[in-house]
Parts: sequence; structure tokens; C-alpha cells
Amino acid sequence: MAVLLENEYGWVLDHKKCIDRQYIGTTDKATVLTAGQKEAVYNIVEEMSMNLGTMNFELKRDLFAVNRPFLMDSQFQAETMRNEHGERRRERKRKRKSALSVGEQQARVYHDLVKDKIHAAYVELKTIFQPEDPHQPNLSNNAEARKAAMILGPGDSLTELCEMGGIPQTGDRNGIQLVGGMSISEPSDVLNQPLFYDGATPTVVSLLGERYLLPAHCSFLLSDITHVQLLTRQCNNQYNLIVLDPPWENKSVKRLKKYQQLNNSDLINIPIPKLATAGCLLVVWVTNKEHHRSFVKDELFPAWNTEVLAEWHWLKVTNNGETVYDFESTHKKPYETLILGRFSCEGGQERHYPSVPDWRLLISVPCSLHSKKPPLIDVLKRYLPEKPKCLELFARNLMEGWTSWGNEVLKHQHLDYYQKEGT
Ligand SMILES: C[S@@+](CC[C@H](N)C(=O)[O-])C[C@H]1O[C@@H](n2cnc3c(N)ncnc32)[C@H](O)[C@@H]1O
Repeated sequence: MAVLLENEYGWVLDHKKCIDRQYIGTTDKATVLTAGQKEAVYNIVEEMSMNLGTMNFELKRDLFAVNRPFLMDSQFQAETMRNEHGERRRERKRKRKSALSVGEQQARVYHDLVKDKIHAAYVELKTIFQPEDPHQPNLSNNAEARKAAMILGPGDSLTELCEMGGIPQTGDRNGIQLVGGMSISEPSDVLNQPLFYDGATPTVVSLLGERYLLPAHCSFLLSDITHVQLLTRQCNNQYNLIVLDPPWENKSVKRLKKYQQLNNSDLINIPIPKLATAGCLLVVWVTNKEHHRSFVKDELFPAWNTEVLAEWHWLKVTNNGETVYDFESTHKKPYETLILGRFSCEGGQERHYPSVPDWRLLISVPCSLHSKKPPLIDVLKRYLPEKPKCLELFARNLMEGWTSWGNEVLKHQHLDYYQKEGT
């Protein structure tokens, strides 16, 4: 279990453990397939594979080396100077040059509404962490984690492929079955068609010249949102859990060119009513912008026939349990919001699921990859039927037993992000 602590306020999660347990006993195979053998690929690949053995992979440990609250370089340099000169930190309140924008005012109102609740739960849950000596100097400003966040993986090649578009010309448009060690070099065999891996143990495959880890029993679709309806082909109304982390419009994402952004009507058009089974639990991550929160509650969920059940928060902490930003920081908040709802469909069989509490706090050490969210299954499974069918939209990684979709869906499966256990 990747739940480290549970009480009536919420849960403390171990993100890394939840991912790593999927890659115990990974079979690594080598194949000698070439593009010219494409027609035969799907039949003879196993005969041509050489088993390189079994190993345990884990996410690179540095991705979670968040040992101190996040500081900008200028803040870190100032703090280092102060330490060198034995000065104490002066709490200087910066004077604002301009009045708060409407968005900032709304964010402040929301913060005032939730901060006490989040803080009270934090106090009850943080007991599991070993606090650091407050006099210990901050020597590296999380340098290892920040370096790990720059791992290239497949770079932008997946989104670029999705932008090229194109309908698959080969393979079965109902999907391609992957096997361990398989090597696919044709973009049209990977893009815009569902790929399945039915193996009972994790494995490694080579897709378009890059090596990716596959957890057991997973499937995925690499496509732009214009092809998202391909997900409904063989799986009408089947999912019990759908998690979405949309690319909300946001200045820093735009500036850093981290990923593309979508507008609200693109989201409304995602065919949730065709993908969700009656009683499906929907979870949407939203940024700290009030208009995103109200859009999900007042427009998106009603358009998907989904009743709003709850609003939870995820609090990001260091390995010592300090929040990664100060609660009152005007720059960034240490928490993010999740909105949960239940889908109902006409004529759908009503089943009784355990009721979802209207508020809970999730606490974890964040992965240093930009906008990375913690896996939720260990918490959400108590509100789902046994052996739930789960779907993640806008995913950048795969999960055992899940279907995942997005224009970077394989990104964090790239072997660059993993190390062999114990190395
Ligand atoms: C906020 S991120 C999701 C992060 C993810 N939850 C994680 O923890 O790694 C949003 C994702 O949506 C993808 N995306 C943006 N525009 C898209 C589009 N038009 N079609 C499909 N995916 C898109 C982005 O590339 C990015 O991977």
C-alpha cells in the first residue's frame, strides 16, 4: 500500500512507491525486428525475442529529492548570503505596485475559505514525517530534484507526432496487441490507434526508437484530442473511474511552453457519457484559478450528467513534512484542488457505492516533473466496485490495469525516468 497514514482528515501518500510496485519483475527482451518485417511483427515477435532477464525498475529517486521548500534562485542566493554572514531572515513585506486583478482577488477569497481546514488536517497528518533541524542550512535548493526534472525522455516527439495527425494505415484499427520486447518503428502503428499490453508482468518495448516500460495489463491511445473518440470504439460505457488533469490555460505553462492548452468547449466535447458506466466516479484536477473551478462545477459536470460530490485538496510537502510553499505565499500555493463527481446515465443500473466525503486532504512529496500529480487509486478504490475499470485522460504515464490517453501518454514510461532497483 502506498498510503502511509490515514485518518478522518485524509491520507499521506507515497507517490513513488505506488509507481515502483508496478515494475517489480520486469521482463526485458531484445528483438531483431526491422520495419521491413512489419507484416510479420505481430505473429513472430516472441520467437525472435531474446530474454535479457528479469529486473525491478523504480522511478529515479532524485525525482523525489524535495528536501526543502521551493525557492527561486534569487531567494536561495539571498538566503545563502544571509547564512554566510550569520544574519537572520528579515520578513519583508513586498509592496504591490498595482491592485489585485479580479482573478487574484477571487483566489484570495478561495484561499481564505479553505486555508484553515487544510492547515488543521495538515497538523493531524504530518505526524508521520521526521521534522528537520530548523538550523540546518539549505545547501542545495533541491538541486538533485531540479536536475532530475530536466530528464529528456522522448522530449516533444510524442506531441509533435500527434500534431502531424494521420489515420493509421496498417495494423487493425481496433488496436494493436503489444508483447514484451516488441519493436515498432512506423509512426502510423503507434499513433491514433489503441495499443494493448495483456502481459501479467511488466515489460519493455521499443516504440519509434525509444524504450518504454509497460506495466501489466495496460492499454493506451496516443492522440490529439481530435481523435479522443477512438477511445469509445470497443469500450462504450465501461469505466468505473475516470481521472482528468486537463491542460488548463495558465500563464506559466504558456511561458514555459510546457504543453499545449485547450479551451473549455474542447473539454465539454470529450465523450464522457459514452465512456462512463452508471455511477462512474469522475475526478478532475483544477488549478487554483476560480474560473476553472466554477467551470467544472457549473458547466462541465452538468454537461456530462455528473453530480458534484466533493472538493478535495492535495498538499505538497518536502521529505521532512514542510509545505513546499508558505501557506500565505502570494506567489504560489502549496496545494491543488480535485473535484469529484458521480456520473449517472438514463436507464443505467443504479448501484450503491460507498459515499464520498465532501472534503479530504491528500498529502505527498511531489515528483519534481512539471505538473506531475500523485496516483489516486489507493485512496479512491474504497469508493469503487471491486476490480474497477479505470481511465486517465491527459495522462503522461500508464498504470497497471488502466487505459490511458493523451498526446504525451507514454512520456513518463520512457526508461530515462527509471533506474534499476538498488543502483
Ligand atoms: C496537466 S498535464 C497532465 C499531467 C498528468 N496528470 C501527470 O501527472 O503527468 C496535461 C496534458 O495534456 C496534454 N494535452 C494538451 N493538449 C492536448 C491535446 N490537444 N490533445 C491531447 N492531449 C493534450 C499535454 O501535453 C499534457 O501532457
